Amino acid sequence: MMPHTDTGPDAAAILIRARDLVLPELRTAVARLDPALGTMAGYHFGWNTADGRPATAHPGKLLRPALTVLAAEAVGGLGASVTRGAVAVELVHNFSLIHDDIMDRDELRRGRPTLWRCFDIPFAIMVGDALHALAFELLSEQDNQRASQLLGAALRDLVSGQARDMEFSGRSWQCGDAVTVGVDEYREMAMAKTGALMSAALSIGAELGGARPEVVATFTQVGRHLGLAFQCVDDILGIWGDEAVTGKPALGDLREGKRTLPLLGALATPDGEELAGILAGSDLGDPDLRHAAKVIERAGGRALTEREVDRQIALARALLAEVPTEAAVQARFDALCAAAVRRVR
Ligand code: IPE
Ligand code: IPE
Ligand code: MG
Ligand code: MG
Repeated sequence: MMPHTDTGPDAAAILIRARDLVLPELRTAVARLDPALGTMAGYHFGWNTADGRPATAHPGKLLRPALTVLAAEAVGGLGASVTRGAVAVELVHNFSLIHDDIMDRDELRRGRPTLWRCFDIPFAIMVGDALHALAFELLSEQDNQRASQLLGAALRDLVSGQARDMEFSGRSWQCGDAVTVGVDEYREMAMAKTGALMSAALSIGAELGGARPEVVATFTQVGRHLGLAFQCVDDILGIWGDEAVTGKPALGDLREGKRTLPLLGALATPDGEELAGILAGSDLGDPDLRHAAKVIERAGGRALTEREVDRQIALARALLAEVPTEAAVQARFDALCAAAVRRVR
């Protein structure tokens, strides 16, 4: 990836500012839940232990609320309803993570056992459902039907992306000479599973900030490119990231047969046959997975993914430049985009 050497605004400060705006409202919203489900949700958010004692575990990066706040600022309309919109998006994001960990059979999230590992699958399903319901309840109180529509449409896309992701994992490794999942199919899937909610974060911020429809539409497009770039980085971290830092299981995507971009890129090279041979095997141990990771890197799958990140970020930035706003807000967007793909967790 190109080093993003912005010296302008500090992305960490942008995230902290959004967190300070959103976190109190998020906690107030979650307090509406039935107490038992509220404790489980609080565990997921890192606010308490599984038995309800206060905790300060990692609550997530809160990138999406920061996008909502910035989009509203860009159109000059940061107000109370924007904060609620940001909370609604973060609730949907966390609902999707809780259910995603069940689907992906992942046992670690933000460095702690996943909700389903801690409380069992039926409770994780219900906590997810409760956060989902809460998100739409909050948005419906903002008296902006368009914002609720944007979130509903994004969630529909997110679920279709998740369905495609699951379906890809079940496909055979090789079909004649052709790899089974194409890079274009991957892009569509990732833009849906991850891009749709980034689009919602941005477009809801713009909508609640009072933007014109064409500006809201531009933000929707920005989110698709930013989301795809973000997912590519997540794919890289899923193979080469440090579990102690990412807080997610090392090599988990390879173990589950996820068709991530580094893998798809490598499968399409002469090393693809060896790779498919390893990953099609049963009972893969960590040494097999580590070997597969080496083959992917050697075959250029990581480099290809890094190039895709740069391409998608450039597309997102070009679209952002079309939004008529102050240079200072543009600089904040640039810093946040750069940080979103420079992340280590
Ligand atoms: C994780 O998103 C899910 C993906 C879209 C890859 P984040 O990395 O934004 O999750 P948290 O909220 O910061 O943990
Ligand atoms: C990201 O899914 C998108 C959603 C959770 C909707 P992943 O399965 O790729 O994300 P992680 O790696 O578990 O966070
Ligand atoms: Mg997952
Ligand atoms: Mg998943």
